[in-house]
Amino acid sequence: MEPEIRLEDLKEKLKIRLKPERYEHTIGVYYTALCMAMKFEEDLSKTAVAALLHDCAKNMSDKELIDICTEDHVEIFKEELDMPDLLHQKAGAIVARKEFGIEDPYILNAIGCHTTGRFDMTLLDKIIFAADYIEPGRYKQRHLPMIRKAAFTDIDYACFLILFDTIEYLNRAHIELHPDTALVYEEFAQKMYSKGLKDGKS
Ligand SMILES: [Fe+2]
Ligand SMILES: [Fe+2]
Repeated sequence: MEPEIRLEDLKEKLKIRLKPERYEHTIGVYYTALCMAMKFEEDLSKTAVAALLHDCAKNMSDKELIDICTEDHVEIFKEELDMPDLLHQKAGAIVARKEFGIEDPYILNAIGCHTTGRFDMTLLDKIIFAADYIEPGRYKQRHLPMIRKAAFTDIDYACFLILFDTIEYLNRAHIELHPDTALVYEEFAQKMYSKGLKDGKS
């Protein structure tokens, strides 16, 4: 962990970088993620940094997102070229490293998959992924009360519900699924199925 990182400095920089409503969302994710980290015993400092920086590339244009990922030799999928905003997660990890001096891969990876999810997510990945979806400023998503409750009781179930709803939304909108989302959904669906079998037996 980078001990020299001051959260107040990050907030000041983000306030300049992001639109007011995006900054407001970031603060919502920050407090939500910290509450989840307390519940699930994740490192609070790492959670704070990942949550604050998760959308740090959200101010960039499609071209800037593609360019920064290309320059950094980050793989770009077809689905991301079709919808470059998806790249704000990968670009966010690059900006967090280059402009905010974050080097911890555990933090950078959580920023880098906060929208699509990815196979074999860490606890911090799951916290940022879920906090981004349920922070208090969110209201449009379906099943929010149920997902908010699950986010503080069974984080895997919360992630599964978020992925389920996201995939349903994308299917309805005829938007192609990001390969990482498809993979992680399969993984969580399998987990829920196995858990159901186990709970059924007990
Ligand atoms: Fe985001
Ligand atoms: Fe976000």
